[in-house]
Amino acid sequence: MPDDVVRIFDTTLRDGEQAPGIALTKAEKVEIAEQLARLRVDVLEAGFPISSEGEFEAVREIATSVRGPVIAALARVTTGDIERAAEALKGAERWRIHTFISTSQIHMQDMLRMSHQQVIDAIREGVTLAASYTDDVEFSAQDATRTELDFLLECFRVAVEAGATTINVPDTVGYAMPHEFGELVSTVRERAPEHVVVSTHCHNDLGLAVANSLAGIVNGARQVEVAVNGIGERAGNCSLEEVAMIVRTRGQALGVRHGLNTREIVRTSRLVAMTTGYSVQPNKAVVGASAFAHESGIHQHGVLANRATYEIMDPLEIGLEGNRIVLGTHSGRHAFADALDKLGIRLDPEHLDRAFARFKELADRKIQLTDQDLQAIVSEEIGGGEEDLFVLESVVVGGGTHLEPRATVHLRRGDEVVEESAMGDGLIDAVMGAIQRATGTPATLVSFNVSSVTGGSDALGDVVVQLAVDGRRVTGRGVATDVVEASARAYLAAINRALQAPPAGSKRTTEAWPS
Ligand code: KIV
Ligand code: ZN
Repeated sequence: MPDDVVRIFDTTLRDGEQAPGIALTKAEKVEIAEQLARLRVDVLEAGFPISSEGEFEAVREIATSVRGPVIAALARVTTGDIERAAEALKGAERWRIHTFISTSQIHMQDMLRMSHQQVIDAIREGVTLAASYTDDVEFSAQDATRTELDFLLECFRVAVEAGATTINVPDTVGYAMPHEFGELVSTVRERAPEHVVVSTHCHNDLGLAVANSLAGIVNGARQVEVAVNGIGERAGNCSLEEVAMIVRTRGQALGVRHGLNTREIVRTSRLVAMTTGYSVQPNKAVVGASAFAHESGIHQHGVLANRATYEIMDPLEIGLEGNRIVLGTHSGRHAFADALDKLGIRLDPEHLDRAFARFKELADRKIQLTDQDLQAIVSEEIGGGEEDLFVLESVVVGGGTHLEPRATVHLRRGDEVVEESAMGDGLIDAVMGAIQRATGTPATLVSFNVSSVTGGSDALGDVVVQLAVDGRRVTGRGVATDVVEASARAYLAAINRALQAPPAGSKRTTEAWPS
């Protein structure tokens, strides 16, 4: 690759998915992976296969079906992890094993209980094994920024000698300052052989993930690890869209470019927000709803005269087009599939049928549907499991007094229809209580988020809930023209998910080192 190209390594489906409360289904993971391929990320980290059976299956599915990016999977530097990663990845066109171990004193002593020599030996053995499966091996020194420099350089030297072709410098706890991180990357770059790519992986605990990644680029890093909307452990990872547009807008100042199709940025951001339930703050750089809004009269006047007076990026460059009306009440299945195709969304026949049926229901109530409505409908549908145990037939509100709202739900389970009612503090609370009764599933509402998909009084309401069910966090999403119905759908989707097998999440590996 030319020396001025920085590779974009996307970890939305691995580190991003480790954000609290996110648990994507396999279908959602594949959908996001396909969108990342359309965005043309260079490397797509699909997951951590050893962490669970569901995670393994999701990585395998992505490896066999998604074309374009190099597909990567995470593995500790242990035999079991590396074999599992190789097994999950082997159907991919091009694949990478990303193997790691902690190298800081605090992690080695208190978490791994390993000596310096044991860590060095583990790196040598692990990377050698990974390199026996593929010649594309990345090694990460977890907590690199709090690692003693000479030891860190020794770890990287051993990893490269054993076959690593990318060495990654994670600021795992988001502690580094840009000037410190830049200096560290510069030292690692100087010591590494030329063919080895130096990478950054920055967390955002102090809000410095993007700044640190840029400092890395300026000092020779040619891979940045990022996540869509900056999601990830704790305060998250370096945000993909920010790095993408900084490099696109200020590439000359940085001396680098990337190969992303930035026109897919908005769509990717929306898909990830919808499926994860992590909505984007309105003033978020690049993808926030207000990022291109001009409120003051002076700014509006300037932009009307010449967009560049107050805009440094063209909204079209990130795919922020007007919300186009794509379908109406009479549109048929063919037009529906065609509209999805134009949005770059391809569904398997079963999900297409379900999404079309849902579209028809909504089209009866909303005369015109836009591309954002379609994306919302699809994301609600693919969020559903293979076989939802309960299906919402109807929600009837009223019957209680003004102060004691009441709701009745009808849920279908196989051939049977269950009816239950409940009172609540408000209609939404009542509906949730009725669903708990009908499904016989006690749940605690952890978070509730409502937004509208588009503007206008007939806009679809978009509700994302997070529930704690039997010690497990599950999310659900519902869209409807009525916000009570959207809430019922979201709540039931979460309950259905809790009643299914554990999702394809990566949160079940709790040991930093297998004992
Ligand atoms: O933050 C971190 O150190 C990681 C590594 C596994 C790369 O996510
Ligand atoms: Zn990380």
